[in-house]
Amino acid sequence: MEINKELMRRDAPIGVFDSGVGGLTVVREIMRQIPNERIIYFGDTARVPYGSKSQETVTRFSEQIVRFLRTFQVKTIVVACNTASAYAMDILEEESDIPIIGVVKPGARVAAQTTRNGRIGVIATEATIGSHIYAKFLRELNREVTVYGKACPLFVPLVEEGLLVDPVTDEIARRYLAELIDIDIDTLILGCTHYPLIRSTLSRIMGERVTLVNPAYETARELKELLGQMDMLSQTPPGLGSNCYQFYVSDKAEKFLRFANSIIKYGILSAKAVNIEEY
Ligand code: DGL
Repeated sequence: MEINKELMRRDAPIGVFDSGVGGLTVVREIMRQIPNERIIYFGDTARVPYGSKSQETVTRFSEQIVRFLRTFQVKTIVVACNTASAYAMDILEEESDIPIIGVVKPGARVAAQTTRNGRIGVIATEATIGSHIYAKFLRELNREVTVYGKACPLFVPLVEEGLLVDPVTDEIARRYLAELIDIDIDTLILGCTHYPLIRSTLSRIMGERVTLVNPAYETARELKELLGQMDMLSQTPPGLGSNCYQFYVSDKAEKFLRFANSIIKYGILSAKAVNIEEY
């Protein structure tokens, strides 16, 4: 569908969603890079994880969340979930008359520019790796690159348990990453929203010759660029209180709030539970 700029207002919020808490790594980057923007976040905490679900299911969930976010007249939507970006981006873009940005393309673009030996690793959920989406975009950008995908399903529960720096996380990371070290990659895409939170562990294990690419950072950068090109960047600070950053979840708002406040410095005041199946 064509983008209809009439539907966008500069001071309207940006909608961001994820299967749960992981997308907060993208929110954190948006807050840092474009601090004037208001944000409406939805975390699908009742239906997480998406990484082990089918494309059909993840697409249906994503469409419901987009309908929910559009009730806030958002000017653009960020799909802050690699699995939803891998599975649902094409359909969401096709159905939308406001811009929708995923996390996969921005991450792939930077990795393609970063690699020197053409050997790029991607770590992500089973769904993202199985979709081969990073390999597809990377090879469109540079036909010479070889892409090695590795599903790391235990990282999400480890992060959600708060084991960010912990011997258990260390041991599991060593096992997952061993084969990527053996094949001498020089660039590693953190292809799941949770992984930037264990970046220090991953970086230590991969060693300094390997550059880690954080799609959350790159997505915020591309969002800023896109809004700038469309003359849609907010010109005024978002204000104070719960109006500037609003958080919604499909279950366990209190637990979400604790996690959110542990990784975002702004003091998130509240998170509300909504019945997403109604959308
Ligand atoms: N947010 C998901 C992703 O980036 C990870 C968690 C899940 O499996 O839902 O792929």
